[in-house]
Amino acid sequence: MQRIILDTDPGIDDALAFLLLAASPEISLEAITVTHGNTSVDKCTENALKLVELAGISHVPVARGADQPLVKALSVAEETHGDGGLGYAVLPASKVQIVEPKAVDLIIELIHKYPKEITLLCIGPMTNIALAILKDPSIVPLVKNVVSMGGTFHFPGNSTPDSEYNVFCDPEAFDIVVRAGFDLTIVPLDVTYQCIFTKEHLTRLKEVKPSIREFIEDSTRFYMEFHDEYQAIDGCAINDPLAAAILVKPELVSLRDYYVTVELKGEHTRAKTSADHFKTLNKQPNAKVAMEVDVPGFMDFFIERMKSL
Ligand code: BDR
Ligand code: CA
Repeated sequence: MQRIILDTDPGIDDALAFLLLAASPEISLEAITVTHGNTSVDKCTENALKLVELAGISHVPVARGADQPLVKALSVAEETHGDGGLGYAVLPASKVQIVEPKAVDLIIELIHKYPKEITLLCIGPMTNIALAILKDPSIVPLVKNVVSMGGTFHFPGNSTPDSEYNVFCDPEAFDIVVRAGFDLTIVPLDVTYQCIFTKEHLTRLKEVKPSIREFIEDSTRFYMEFHDEYQAIDGCAINDPLAAAILVKPELVSLRDYYVTVELKGEHTRAKTSADHFKTLNKQPNAKVAMEVDVPGFMDFFIERMKSL
């Protein structure tokens, strides 16, 4: 059983990752820590509380985290995820309450409680994790590993021409995490933008519990409209669930060892992530980066797990 802390900004694809984790008995979800990102931290927290009820995991503690990035101004992506963050889906008000301590302290507390057992699954901006490192650097060697949906290397950016949204939202935080010395796996747009969830996939959800199926239909309808209008993509990229899926099925992706950097200053390239493919910098790799993905394998896995909820 893998102990996971999910750090998240729900968000439509974050919500799908919640569902996938809830459907994965291999995983013990120790906490959900919420950050600003796809919308404000208040709305993301509200969504997390509703989603744990929908997914049948209301026992998992949900903690509110950072309301703004370390340095840059707050960004939200309501054109991508809707005003409330979950597209056209409307979930009932949650009976679940947030826990104390807040996200950063809960992350630190759980890492000390389970030394070398915790995987940090990070599917939003890295602010909470960076703040935890700054507050208590002793956590770094105690973390088993970090899996991050973030960055883009050879694929275009989805926030600026060169930057991926989670890194764009808080580049300094991502930089702190990349340089911290974790066993770090990065799941970038290079692979997630191959995982396009389409109307055809929706037709395969007939056996899924109605509340879950309706949520997936209503949330992804908005997400598909965004992808169509802004990116001329038929369907929607389900980024965050891929990062969750590889915890259970690592063979879905091929990883390459890279020395990864984050541009913090560039006029046009701030928040760009780079991988030193030809070792031009002569540096030791600091991350394993997913560069190939078994798309049908992932889609089948996601759909099958939804049927088990
Ligand atoms: C990432 O940004 C967010 O909009 C998604 O939830 C995902 O985590 C993709 O760039
Ligand atoms: Ca996200």
